Order: sequence, then C-alpha cells, then structure tokens
Amino acid sequence: MAIRYELIPDEQITRVKHLCNELMSYQKSLATVRPELFNGMSFESRMVPSVKNAKANYIIAAMDGDEIVGYVYSNVSPKEVYSNEFATFFDMDSVKGNDVGCLSQFYLKEGYRSMGIGSVLYEKSKDWLDSFDDIHDQFIYVSNGNVAALQFYKSKGFKVSHQILDGFIIVLRNT
Ligand SMILES: CC(C)(COP(=O)(O)OP(=O)(O)OC[C@H]1O[C@@H](n2cnc3c(N)ncnc32)[C@H](O)[C@@H]1OP(=O)(O)O)[C@@H](O)C(=O)NCCC(=O)NCCS
Repeated sequence: MAIRYELIPDEQITRVKHLCNELMSYQKSLATVRPELFNGMSFESRMVPSVKNAKANYIIAAMDGDEIVGYVYSNVSPKEVYSNEFATFFDMDSVKGNDVGCLSQFYLKEGYRSMGIGSVLYEKSKDWLDSFDDIHDQFIYVSNGNVAALQFYKSKGFKVSHQILDGFIIVLRNT
C-alpha cells in the first residue's frame, strides 16, 4: 500500500470533517469517565474554532490514492485558549512563554493502523512544532480509555503530566 502525505491548507479543513467526527465517536466508544462530554463535540465545535483561534495550524493527511485515510492536526496558540468555561487544561504559570504547541487531533481509519503511518504523521507534526524556536511547551490531550494512543505518545517521548475533568482527559507534555 503506497501512502502519500499531503499538507491540507486551513481553508480546506472540511476535507477531514468526516474523519474528525469519526475520531469523536471513536473516543466516546472507549471512554468510561464522562463519555457524555463527547456529545457536544464535532468538527464544527472542535476543529473549526480551534483552527480560527490558533496562530498557526498544520494539518497533514495520509492519502491512499485519492482517499484521505487519516490526518493529524497540530497548532500553535496563545496559552490562554486552554483556560475556558470547559476546563483549565494546565497551570498557566507552568508555561513561561505566551504560546504553546499542541498535537490536537490524530486519526487513522481502521485498516490503516499499526502499520507505521501514524509514526510518519507524528514525526512530521513534531518537526513542525519543534520549528518554533520560541515555543518550548507542547501538549497532547488524550481522552480516558484510549490506552493505545497513550502508549503511542509515551513511546514517542511525551510524558503524562496530570488529569483534568475527573480523569476525562489525560494531559501529556513534552517536558
Ligand atoms: C494512535 C494512532 C494515531 C497510532 O498510529 P499507528 O499508525 O497505528 O501507529 P504506528 O504503526 O506508527 O505504531 C507506532 C508504535 O505504537 C505502537 N502501537 C500502535 N498501535 C498500537 C495499539 N493499538 N496498541 C499498542 N501499541 C500500538 C506500535 O507497536 C508502534 O511501536 P514500535 O514503534 O515500538 O513498533 C492510530 O492507531 C489511530 O489513529 N488510532 C485511532 C484513533 C486514535 O486513537 N487517535 C488518538 C487520539 S488522542
């Protein structure tokens, strides 16, 4: 299977809409802590505002022929966007700079997992996040029950920092 990797410009994010919504359903299916919190989560409520609020976005799709079979979405944003009515994702004082990096969404369709595609997408995203010399803090938020994703990110060097929302989300950091 020859997979190509394609950069998706911000104005074309609807190309990953169906996969973003699949990701939300997938995460809900695994969650045991407050799975109902996923009910309000969708491409429109999560990805669209996130892309708008970020200073920079980086979306890479994995292509099998003309079909998008997976994507990863990372961004760089002012740290304040992570303190809102939904949650405070981390201690603001623990971040020295104004901005943080986030590997925000990651999804491969079933049948395309555990073949190394995720590792390629991860490396591309990490290189992008690392290219911001003035941003030292990178975050990944994993929802509860997703043991494989947690293992995946730990194997890449991210460390569990803390949990929020009664353990609904596990916060990982690069330091
Ligand atoms: C998580 C995900 C992005 C990983 O991508 P992937 O292509 O499956 O992972 P890779 O094949 O590159 O595997 C990388 C490593 O993770 C490990 N791994 C991958 N899937 C795993 C699984 N289901 N259980 C345990 N380990 C797993 C592999 O063993 C591999 O380790 P190695 O490098 O020592 O061989 C992908 O499986 C996925 O999209 N899952 C469904 C959606 C999801 O959970 N997204 C994350 C939301 S936070």
